[in-house]
Amino acid sequence: MSLDTTRPMLKINGSPVSIPDAPLRRLSDVLREECGMKSVKVGCDAGDCGACTVLLDGKPVCACLTPVTQAVGAEITTVEGLQDPLAKRLQAAFLRHGAAQCGICTPGMLIAAIALLRDEPRPTPEQAEEALGGVLCRCTGYRKIIAAVCDAHTDAPATPMPATGSAIGARVERLDGQRKVDGTDVFGADDWPEGALIVRAIRSPHHHADFIFGDLTAWQAATPGVAAIFTAADVPGINRFGVIPPFADQPMLAGSRARFRGEAVALVALEPEHGQTSLDTFPVSWQPLPDTLDEAAGQAADAPVLHDTREGNILTQGFVKSGDADAALANATHIIEGSIRTSYVEHAYIEPEAGAAWMDGDTLVIQTCTQAPVMDRDDTAAMMALPPERVRIIATATGGGFGSKLDVSLHPLVGLAALKTGRPARMVYTRTESMQSTTKRHPATMTARICADVQGNIVGMDFQGDFNTGAYASWGPTVANRVPVHASGPYRVPHYRALGRAIHTNGPVSGAFRGFGVPQAAIMQETLFDKLADSIGIDRLDFRLRNAYRDGDVTATGQLLKGGVGIIDCLEALQPVWEAAKADASAWNAANTTIKRGIGVASCWYGCGNTSLPNPSTIRVGISAAGRVVLHQGASDIGQGSNTVITQICADALGLPLNAFDLIGPDTALTPDAGKTSASRQTYVTGKAAEKSGRALRAAILRHANAGENATLRMEGTSLNVEEDGDIRHIPLATLPLDPNGYAFMAEETYDPPTTTLDENGQGIPYAVYGYGAQLVVLDVDTALGKVHLHKIIAAHDVGRAINPVLAEGQIEGGIAQGIGLALMEEYIPGRTENLHDYLIPSIGDVPDIESILIEKPDPEGPFGAKGLGEHVLIPTAPAILNAIRHATGAEITHLPALPHRVKAAIDRARATTVAR
Ligand code: FES
Ligand code: FES
Repeated sequence: MSLDTTRPMLKINGSPVSIPDAPLRRLSDVLREECGMKSVKVGCDAGDCGACTVLLDGKPVCACLTPVTQAVGAEITTVEGLQDPLAKRLQAAFLRHGAAQCGICTPGMLIAAIALLRDEPRPTPEQAEEALGGVLCRCTGYRKIIAAVCDAHTDAPATPMPATGSAIGARVERLDGQRKVDGTDVFGADDWPEGALIVRAIRSPHHHADFIFGDLTAWQAATPGVAAIFTAADVPGINRFGVIPPFADQPMLAGSRARFRGEAVALVALEPEHGQTSLDTFPVSWQPLPDTLDEAAGQAADAPVLHDTREGNILTQGFVKSGDADAALANATHIIEGSIRTSYVEHAYIEPEAGAAWMDGDTLVIQTCTQAPVMDRDDTAAMMALPPERVRIIATATGGGFGSKLDVSLHPLVGLAALKTGRPARMVYTRTESMQSTTKRHPATMTARICADVQGNIVGMDFQGDFNTGAYASWGPTVANRVPVHASGPYRVPHYRALGRAIHTNGPVSGAFRGFGVPQAAIMQETLFDKLADSIGIDRLDFRLRNAYRDGDVTATGQLLKGGVGIIDCLEALQPVWEAAKADASAWNAANTTIKRGIGVASCWYGCGNTSLPNPSTIRVGISAAGRVVLHQGASDIGQGSNTVITQICADALGLPLNAFDLIGPDTALTPDAGKTSASRQTYVTGKAAEKSGRALRAAILRHANAGENATLRMEGTSLNVEEDGDIRHIPLATLPLDPNGYAFMAEETYDPPTTTLDENGQGIPYAVYGYGAQLVVLDVDTALGKVHLHKIIAAHDVGRAINPVLAEGQIEGGIAQGIGLALMEEYIPGRTENLHDYLIPSIGDVPDIESILIEKPDPEGPFGAKGLGEHVLIPTAPAILNAIRHATGAEITHLPALPHRVKAAIDRARATTVAR
């Protein structure tokens, strides 16, 4: 920070700093760009997310809405300036409670909290909620943040590191947590080489349009600061993101036709001092074409065909069949059918996509937030016509990523600018750009019929779901394949048929999003289950218990579930509360006419990892001459905690304590391929690779020491000691020859889940490991207004083995918050909800008390018995909410989200039906 007394001055964290004379610049911009205060995050630039919150004379303000002139003369406090004991206690409480996941919202939360705590050192949860109400978090579900703020008055010691062999199951603080709470974690927009060009995209304002460029050379010459322009013609290699051949169809830059609103058609690289130059006059003319936005329209006879697919706009379909569903349904004693429609859901991670690129010799280096560094490298290499070894992806901290930072992102865009100009380049999506151009949760139109016998045993089910995959395939094929496998829920359905189709439209591209279509299918299945139970006259929870999978059952794909099936345990864990809550609701409803109380339950199962596809992870671990265990951990930690969990697994497999470890994070030059962070695979698949690597390293050490398996390891400085039967062998590490990686001992192991392909009837082994869960919701419905008020959610999830219970609870709470959004408020409409003001995600007041119950039914295949969890936790929330609304009011919600006007209309329909009867 510099001091030039001729220029305006800010007082930041107690120090004067001179700034450029630009009084209307946003304070957030000046703090980040001129003053190096990178803890000030920018999630929306519009006052909606609170990520940029700073203190101005002790009061929290959105720095993005504060013109810098307003801050001149005031005391500005950012997280860098939080050095007093109160702040340290608050930061420690965040770590203790697991209140920071990805960490992008954490600075804003801390600043808002400190303002409260200075006035009220022992706030109530309600006071904390109110004080933090302006800061959005997409990861945590807020409850742990509230707990941390309320606990900040205590001087509790940091959670102790577990002893050797006790890492698994310990409530370890995140190993990467400190930098998240002190504001030093580096996210995609936080670091770039000096003089980097600023890259911005020209995007289609139309859902479907042909376009031609005007005179680009003349425009560049007439526009100050334009260093270069790139179009599809400048892409040196294959102009296509390569997700799953042959479905890879999305260009990085459209050539002459845009197929969705927000599609990139050109890039402009600007000199740093001209980064905000208006691009309004960029010479491109558009010829709008007929468009379709929803899947039903996409299949109409006169719909424009978007791609040369097998059948009009149907991209692909997945199918599972066992038994004879038609016969079962035809002969059923009790049969229920229904249809449900869901909406586009936006990822809305608080960190918009961002990154920088530069040339290192002849290697293109891209540093960016990502869920899939190796996939990004290989994609970029193909697009840039480079061999993969000439592209290096360095993953920054990722400020939330629930599927959309997997593939179609900005890495090739910023990479192209660096490669073509030879100069460093940086790119940061605006919030609107992020929302327009990145993938969404598939809107689904689903119908199903389910039947049961008089005892309440499910006999048959027929499911069909159309999933609007938008203008390009992305992960549509994965959704189409995953849904039919899961649409039965974790239940025995002897006669089953399920079809999932991915339909092209001119809507936003739908892709991976926490659950890959399974949350939508579960809404259909779980709401019909409630109606079926009612029609038979069986308690809704008992109905689920009667039909839930047990060890030894065979799924609809013909897979024998050999062990580790925990759905019964989850449902049984809810049973005591269920009975009490039902009684409470009955009493309440007898005494109240307008506000009605409902109780809902729903279950989930979810296969961890890719569906019937290779899905390997590799982990390298070495022991350095300095006596440190170095873990090359290439799995992107997007907040879920893989940096911590995978180290815990490796530590216990190796037999050295957690604090002996150093981490090397995802970097394609330094870490082997741990696959993508998606499909709830990292704890299971990469964790298994870490377990294998830890055991292999241990075996190598024991061989060297000629010791048996029961020997214990201890690191003392640079001596690795092996103790067996009271005999200690000292291995002086510095005297050993080092391998090319610089290690005295090293192991690298790969694990790939044992799955098989599915045949034409969907028979086979799609996943090696499944996780299970069940949630119970208590809510009130205002029947006059259609407003839903959540009281409590109890979530029982079978995680196999809770490697880190704090992080597991955090996943549950965060997933539930997203499930609440899916059920009650989130609906992305292109052209109308392209910001966080019009697109609502749950804020701190929208998430009720959550009680997590961790069930540990070990999986025979998972590392130390562990299963995946991240996606499972979102699945039951929405159907449990809808079931509770119906229990309270009789209203059946058939179009999500259940906005008040839809709930009210459903209540009116239910009443009309009752009267008609
Ligand atoms: Fe300021 Fe979102 S960046 S409120
Ligand atoms: Fe709050 Fe990720 S931890 S947005």
